[in-house]
Amino acid sequence: MKIAIGNDHAATELKFVIKDYVESLGHEVINFGTDDNESCDYPAFGKAVGEAVVAKEADCGILICGTGVGISIAANKVKGVRAAVCSDVATAHLVKEHNNANIIAFGARIVGQELAKDIVKAYLEAEFEGGRHQRRIDMIHDIEE
Ligand code: RB5
Repeated sequence: MKIAIGNDHAATELKFVIKDYVESLGHEVINFGTDDNESCDYPAFGKAVGEAVVAKEADCGILICGTGVGISIAANKVKGVRAAVCSDVATAHLVKEHNNANIIAFGARIVGQELAKDIVKAYLEAEFEGGRHQRRIDMIHDIEE
């Protein structure tokens, strides 16, 4: 898969850990930055990854900031994005199975590196279940209209 990754300054170190991990699983990463520790504004990175996913330049996205919250709120303003903050493995697979989340987010100040890898793996390996869940997703996107 092609996976778009974006982060702010709070998450640069974890972003590179996750980038290497995702590549080790055989995926291609499109890195939207930031790549240093200079203070920056997370909405720009949430927007960039959201737009790449909706444009199908990437199959899905991973967003990381201090908490995962700000950057996911920003991404969710892009029409067609379903970005979900995950701090545990169960949520990570359920957001794909039930919500067909096209972006997962987590916080570098909230989860450690090993848990972050497990979250990413659970999300990438999960499959959307469709059925009643698709109806609910359609209702969510009706709100955007
Ligand atoms: C940056 O200090 C921090 O506010 C940001 O990374 C994120 O946690 C916002 O939701």
